[in-house]
Amino acid sequence: MTLQALKDELARFGADNDATHPERAQRMLNITPDTGELLGVLVRATDARRVLEIGTSNGYSTLWLAEACAAIGGQVTTLEYAADKIALARDTFARSGLAAQIELVHIDAGAWLRAAAEASIDLLFLDSERSQYLGWWPDLRRVLRPGGLLVVDNAVSHADQMAAFAAQVRGDPQFHCVRVPIGNGELIAVRDVA
Ligand SMILES: C[S@@+](CC[C@H](N)C(=O)[O-])C[C@H]1O[C@@H](n2cnc3c(N)ncnc32)[C@H](O)[C@@H]1O
Repeated sequence: MTLQALKDELARFGADNDATHPERAQRMLNITPDTGELLGVLVRATDARRVLEIGTSNGYSTLWLAEACAAIGGQVTTLEYAADKIALARDTFARSGLAAQIELVHIDAGAWLRAAAEASIDLLFLDSERSQYLGWWPDLRRVLRPGGLLVVDNAVSHADQMAAFAAQVRGDPQFHCVRVPIGNGELIAVRDVA
């Protein structure tokens, strides 16, 4: 199976699954394909070799990041705390041909962030529990290297839930932001180089 065929299969599975499961924990909540394309462009354009994803689910968005990382010699670390999603993601990555580019970590993202080294991430894709983002901000900010990119999903679809976090990032003099109306809407912020 080609990588594109696997991505297409996962996109269909996610849409079908989410249409029949009202409870959030049972849903895949995948990014849209054009959001995946955007992530691939951003990784390649910024030569982001150390990519962190928060919120793996079954690994659909990770495939887009890992495909781009494979092209530039980079690596994706992806964090997920739900055991059932970890099992699905492990299966996705085994089928993708991209397992060498992906480190899947079964952990609460807050704990991982607290232990992570300063300026160790080139691009951070945040697609997780939105109520946590504000509390995570000091560590998100700390782990992102100068000149690094933060990309946050659902900036349009859940603008109300994202408002306080977006205001925090926009209010930080070291960060420069744009909201891009692709998919569910991406908040993209670049950190000053110095
Ligand atoms: C929106 S889904 C991720 C979708 C995925 N990025 C994609 O597009 O294919 C959010 C995921 O974050 C996970 N999650 C929520 N809070 C978390 C936390 N504190 N630490 C790690 N994972 C978390 C959920 O279990 C869920 O699988």
